[in-house]
Amino acid sequence: MAQQAVIGVTGLGVMGRNLARNFARHGYAVAVHNRTPTKTKALMEEFGHEGDFIPAETPQEFVASLARPRKMVIMVQAGASTDAVIDEYAPLLEPGDILIDGGNAHFADTRRREQALRERGIHFVGVGISGGEQGALEGPSIMPGGSPEAYESLGPILEDIAAKVDGVPCCTYVGPDGAGHFVKMVHNGIEYADMQLIAEAYDLLRKASGMAPGEIAETFRTWNEGRLGSYLIEITADVLSHVDKATGKPFVDIVLDQAEQKGTGRWTVQAALDLGVPVTGIAEATFARSLSGHVDMRGAARGLAGPSGGGLGSSFADAVEQALYASKVVAYAQGFNEIQAGSAEYGWNIDLGAMATIWRGGCIIRAKFLDRIREAYETDPATPTLLTDARFAAEVGDAQDAWRDVAVTATRSGIPAPGFASSLAYYDGLRADRLPAALIQAQRDFFGAHTYRRTDREGVFHTQWELDDRPEARTDA
Ligand code: 6PG
Repeated sequence: MAQQAVIGVTGLGVMGRNLARNFARHGYAVAVHNRTPTKTKALMEEFGHEGDFIPAETPQEFVASLARPRKMVIMVQAGASTDAVIDEYAPLLEPGDILIDGGNAHFADTRRREQALRERGIHFVGVGISGGEQGALEGPSIMPGGSPEAYESLGPILEDIAAKVDGVPCCTYVGPDGAGHFVKMVHNGIEYADMQLIAEAYDLLRKASGMAPGEIAETFRTWNEGRLGSYLIEITADVLSHVDKATGKPFVDIVLDQAEQKGTGRWTVQAALDLGVPVTGIAEATFARSLSGHVDMRGAARGLAGPSGGGLGSSFADAVEQALYASKVVAYAQGFNEIQAGSAEYGWNIDLGAMATIWRGGCIIRAKFLDRIREAYETDPATPTLLTDARFAAEVGDAQDAWRDVAVTATRSGIPAPGFASSLAYYDGLRADRLPAALIQAQRDFFGAHTYRRTDREGVFHTQWELDDRPEARTDA
């Protein structure tokens, strides 16, 4: 009888390929399959010598090569592709087999899939895998859900290939059905917040202290020796000291400052809203990414007033009135943007000015200034944000020094004023010339090969960070 594989991997993108190599390097015979066989062939040619790989061209061949109970890992893009692969494989499996989803699936999808497969006697194990491509190869952190029974046979293999700290594997049974993917989702939400905070720290050092990226890299290296020591701080230092070969400029300056996201941060916030958990830092980080991508609003808001540096010359009550007014304009601007986006998404063709008109009386948020909103949309029905309407821009511009002062007073006095502070950050985010979203894009490219766009050329790029002397690669060419 032909040799049987202990485990299999289908989907040989960067993560799948590296995970398969990790199994093989740990001495497990591993079956490998990809929808298009070129990737399987490439894996065998480049890395076949690393261990016991059993290549398969068809799902049938792949399943037949697995020892029972079969254990197969699906490493495809989360969403519809995962369902398609499950539909393809489920009829080929038998009760007791273990189907493992190693992608960043939504935990609700994992719960649904687990239940459907449980009814057929198949164990469905949703596994969160973190560590990017390098982690998948050299030892990731692994968060498996599913049945305890499945973990009994699968767990030791996963623990074997996981990262180890002080000899302890970074893998443990998390809980039933969607628990593993839920924990991975929250991991990513924290990742978003961590990256946003680092980006803000960089931006402050650059803009408020005038430090160059290379100097900030040194600061981060020093911090990495202390209590902030972490992978993200370490790679941030590497990113900040990297020089773009084409232009000789600091790399961070040629990256387009529009941060992208695949959705796990957003899911974390959505789940937290449902659970009633105030994850404000994660939400701000998620919204900061989304703000950075609103090119239309940012373009229109670029000329809005910034701090004048002058004294206030008014009472504190007057300053609070101004902060209240400016923050209120931000709230309405955000709400109307949401209606605009909902209308476009669902094809409702909502007249924004008319909504302002019917809110002028009767409703709870009725207010004098809804008339002004109506007028703003009359003047420009497609205005990207109310903040750039001439009258609101002038008023908020006049109020913003006082607004800043109130936010500082609140901060200094230990009085929580998240509404004022967050609205002000939104205003400043929109009017910023450059956002540290560029650093977030560079970090994403560093740890996950997520690619970035440049300020000076069209296209999608990836830097081969581990090989500093290689030119930047254009991935869409
Ligand atoms: C990890 C990462 C990984 C991926 C993120 C990126 O833990 O290894 O989190 O899962 O890089 O999904 O997410 P965004 O594309 O949303 O930034």
